[in-house]
Amino acid sequence: MKIEVLKSSLESVKDELLVIGLFQDEKLPSEVINLDKKSGNQISEVISSKDFKSELLQTSLIYLKNTSCSRILLVGLGKRKEYKLDNSRGLAGISTKAVKSLKKKAFSIYVDSQKHNSSYEDIAQSLAEGVILGNYDYDLFKTKDKKDKVELEKCSFITNKVLEVKQGSSIGYLLAETVSYVRDLINTPSMIKVPEYLAKQAESLAKRNHLKCTVFREKDIEKMGMNALLAVGKGSVSPPRLVVLEYGNQKQDTIVVVGKGITFDSGGLNLKPGDYMNTMKEDMSGAAAVFGILEVASKLKLPLHIIGIAACAENMPSGSAYRPGDIFRAYNGKSIEVANTDAEGRVVLADALSYTNKYEPKAIIDIATLTGACAVALGSGPTAPAGVFGTDEKLIRKLIDAGSKTHERLWQLPLWPEHSENVKSKVADVKNLGSPDRYGGAIAGAAFLKEFVDEKTPWAHLDIAGPAWADDQKQYFSFGGTGFGVRLIIQFLRDWKK
Ligand code: BES
Ligand code: ZN
Ligand code: ZN
Repeated sequence: MKIEVLKSSLESVKDELLVIGLFQDEKLPSEVINLDKKSGNQISEVISSKDFKSELLQTSLIYLKNTSCSRILLVGLGKRKEYKLDNSRGLAGISTKAVKSLKKKAFSIYVDSQKHNSSYEDIAQSLAEGVILGNYDYDLFKTKDKKDKVELEKCSFITNKVLEVKQGSSIGYLLAETVSYVRDLINTPSMIKVPEYLAKQAESLAKRNHLKCTVFREKDIEKMGMNALLAVGKGSVSPPRLVVLEYGNQKQDTIVVVGKGITFDSGGLNLKPGDYMNTMKEDMSGAAAVFGILEVASKLKLPLHIIGIAACAENMPSGSAYRPGDIFRAYNGKSIEVANTDAEGRVVLADALSYTNKYEPKAIIDIATLTGACAVALGSGPTAPAGVFGTDEKLIRKLIDAGSKTHERLWQLPLWPEHSENVKSKVADVKNLGSPDRYGGAIAGAAFLKEFVDEKTPWAHLDIAGPAWADDQKQYFSFGGTGFGVRLIIQFLRDWKK
């Protein structure tokens, strides 16, 4: 789908549908008054009837007479003083879904009525994100619905500030197209997206963006002594991969992002019970986000040296699977006792995190669907926060701030020295489980990871088990992977020097 930016009066918009956002308890903007007059007061009639009160994301579809655009969709923006950019993202998302259900190919959004404290660039970026993400659905395997589907082709942004709106919408477009790609990866069934599939995706991503890409296959992984990653992959017929993507060069600050890439998490021999396995193709959401981050970073030509690492394996039970009680030595020489084969994410990340040392980075961020416990603590679903932990308060603060800008919110959980006691093993250096009752399980996961990062390097861990998956469509989300983290970490990287 295309987004174009146009300067036009509302009366001369010729489109299938025009979206107008309105703040609560305010007079109609003058542009809208002109349109209202032309339509014979149809808009003001709806408003004075009190059927539409501009409550946040309330909608009203009006069929207009005597105007070049035959339908308008009023969308409430709520109270002006409570406005945040995500309301524009939400407005664009629900409008796009409405246009799709009307089976229309094109529509317009009036940008200027949403103007608030935020810049036109930021509003336009949010709108573009909302439109593209709102249009997303994973229908690759649908036969009948796909045949009757009308593809949305164009959304026009109507504004007086063409330059600013073009600038913002092109960034939003790029981000959302990449998040859509990341969602596609997450939604791809695990029968297809084995570790080698992710490696191939990274290779083609690198090619189209002129990035360096190194894929370590099982022989390399073995030679390098990444026995933890190897162990997790043992039960699967599809062997593990460690993918390293590199953008930029050492003249710039180096930042490493590491993603959990479990292509399917059955739990292994500690098999997941009941319904807990159903969405476990999502368990590579961290790795997928890392791919997306590298893609956007290079397209935006960020002045940084960014290393993206994805630790990819499939966690399966079989005669060759790793077992509870097994002990493996990770890349940094520490021995890991496997207390539970379902706590596999931290095990693959142990090798990936130790590998970051060689880059002497200014910061390490890992992103992982690490623990159900984190979702228990903070909630689950696309608007739930991710947990953030780490060794550097400044880094954590920067990430939280970036997340509030992109509305991929983070909530800090503690990681104190005493938490490391929790992951001490009686027979090895560390074990991959905290207390057996699993209380504080998200912290235990973080405390385990901490053992594998260099003490002097600022490190933050994002546990995205909550927001990685959406069970329903909502605003600019649809069923399946959300692509959480891409927009957030790009925002963080763009603000790095600020
Ligand atoms: N991949 C899961 C965590 C998860 C749960 C992600 C729900 C997304 C949604 C992880 O590997 C896991 O199984 N963790 C266990 C850890 C436990 C065995 C210590 C958990 O959370 O129960
Ligand atoms: Zn697991
Ligand atoms: Zn997992």
